[in-house]
Amino acid sequence: MEFNNKVVVVTGGANGIGKALCEQFADLGAKVAVVDLEIDAARQVADSCGGLGLGVDVGIEADIQAAVLAVEAKLGPVDIFVSNAGVSFSDAPGWMAASASNEVWQTSWNVNVMAHVYAARAVIPDMIQRGGGYLVNVASGASLLCQVGDAAYSTTKTAALGFAESLAITHGDDNIKVSVVCPLYVATRMTEGGRGVSGNDQVITAEDAAKSVLEGMEAETFLIMPHSDLATYAQGKGADYDRWIKGMRRMRKGIVEQNPSYDYQR
Ligand SMILES: NC(=O)c1ccc[n+]([C@@H]2O[C@H](COP(=O)([O-])OP(=O)(O)OC[C@H]3O[C@@H](n4cnc5c(N)ncnc54)[C@H](O)[C@@H]3O)[C@@H](O)[C@H]2O)c1
Repeated sequence: MEFNNKVVVVTGGANGIGKALCEQFADLGAKVAVVDLEIDAARQVADSCGGLGLGVDVGIEADIQAAVLAVEAKLGPVDIFVSNAGVSFSDAPGWMAASASNEVWQTSWNVNVMAHVYAARAVIPDMIQRGGGYLVNVASGASLLCQVGDAAYSTTKTAALGFAESLAITHGDDNIKVSVVCPLYVATRMTEGGRGVSGNDQVITAEDAAKSVLEGMEAETFLIMPHSDLATYAQGKGADYDRWIKGMRRMRKGIVEQNPSYDYQR
C-alpha cells in the first residue's frame, strides 16, 4: 500500500490514536483531513501535518457528507477513510448491564457504528467509479471479547466488527479494501488514569497503535490487532464460549473486589 499523495480522512483525528494516525500518514506523504468534534484541536493537528482540519459530528450523516465534499474540493477524491472517532461511557450509575441511559446507548450507536455506515455510504460509490479505495474502521478488542463494566461500548463495538465484515465481503470485488482495528488498551484520553482498564493487558502508546494500523494496511490485513494477545483470547472464546463467560465473570469479580463502588446494589 502506497500512502504518498493519497487523500486520507481520519475521524477523531484531534486526539489519541487518530492524531497519531494523521501524523504517520502525513509523514508518508499523504494529504490528510483531520475530522473531529473538537475543531480547534483538529485544526492544530492539521496545521502540524500540512492537512485540512474540519469540525464534524460523525454521528450526524449530513456532517459526514459535508466533510467528504469539503475534502474532495480542497484535497481531491478520498482514497482512504479511517473511521476512528469513538466514545466510551460505562454502566454507571447503576452498574447493571442495561443501566446506562438511552442517551448513552444512542450516542454509542451513532458514533461507534452509524458513523461507519455514513462514511461508507458517502465514499464507496465514488471509490468504485475510480477503481477502488480503502476503509479502515477502528473498533476494539471489545468487539471480540467484552469491556467489563461497559455494555453499550461492548455491544456497539461488536456491531462495528459485523459491519466491517459486511463491507469486506460485499465490496472486495469492487477493489474496496477493508480493515477493522481491534486494540486492547491504548494510553489515550479514553483510558486516562486507568479508566476502564481491566485485566493484565499491556497498555500501548497511541503511536504504536497507529504504526500497527499502517503496517496492517500495507499487508491489507482485515483484522488488525495491535496487541498480539488478542488473537489468543479470541481463539479461546471461540473454542469454548461457556468457559470464556466463566473466566470473564471471575475477572469481573476481581474488579469489583478492588473497587466495591463498581458493583450494583442488590
Ligand atoms: N484507548 C483505548 O484503549 C482503545 C482501545 C480500543 C479501541 N479504541 C478505539 O480507538 C478509537 C480512538 O480512541 P482514542 O483512544 O484515541 O480516544 P480519544 O478520546 O483520545 O480520541 C477520540 C476522538 O474522537 C473524537 N470524537 C468523539 N466523538 C466524536 C464525534 N461525534 N464526532 C467527531 N469526533 C468525535 C474526540 O473528540 C477525540 O478527538 C475509538 O474508536 C476507540 O473506541 C481505543
